[in-house]
Amino acid sequence: VVILESPQAVAEYGAHIFIRRLQKQPRSVLGLATGSTPVALYQTLIEANQAQAVSFQQVTTYNLDEYLGLDGDHPQSYRHFMNEQLFNHIDIDKNNTFVPPGSASNPVSACDEYEQMIEQSGGIDIQLLGIGRNGHIGFNEPSSGLRSRTRVKTLTQATIDDNARFFAADEFQPHLSITMGIGTILDSAQVVLLATGSSKADAVFATVEGPMSASCPASALQMHQNAVIVIDEEAAAKL
Ligand code: GLP
Repeated sequence: VVILESPQAVAEYGAHIFIRRLQKQPRSVLGLATGSTPVALYQTLIEANQAQAVSFQQVTTYNLDEYLGLDGDHPQSYRHFMNEQLFNHIDIDKNNTFVPPGSASNPVSACDEYEQMIEQSGGIDIQLLGIGRNGHIGFNEPSSGLRSRTRVKTLTQATIDDNARFFAADEFQPHLSITMGIGTILDSAQVVLLATGSSKADAVFATVEGPMSASCPASALQMHQNAVIVIDEEAAAKL
């Protein structure tokens, strides 16, 4: 657990884990996340790429999750978010960027295919995570199986409410998602979880000091050999 003084310091610490890896191993497979927390980290990666300190030309990415029912052009889709927040601004080949297909005609087989694609890429080298206030990672809500794989998950009301801020009042907000499972996440060689702000303090406490339990999906990271939790002082307040 790394506790830093500000959200900006958290973003830069997290970004430098990725930058160091890519400087040593330009052909890497990165697991990426959405939400507001990784935005500053992505900004640091964009700046490093534009300063030619790091290249994404040989990088493959897999995102954690996507809303089921939104296609990639939808402004609230996580594919759109990734294009806007990262991919459009770096030298990555977008053909090598993968987000679960929210508009798949057969979501169940799409989940299996997503798992196979990750495997065929050689597995994820570093997986970035945020955390929900209820301890979810990706869209693995409380009660998710700790060995679960990529699958369709129903969002909890708490998560729907937390994410309502991204949708207009009269806009369709999906209640279903496709998400990598907790087992999928645990298969990554390294995990980097970022959390900032007092609203995450309870979830961070349950993740780090609580019992390992499906009631806090992020607590499964206690089993991981190489997981770093990078948080600001507010998110660390209950440790
Ligand atoms: C969504 C995403 C998660 C993310 C969480 C927290 O539910 N599926 O991957 O960690 O939001 O988002 P934020 O960083 O905006 O608090």
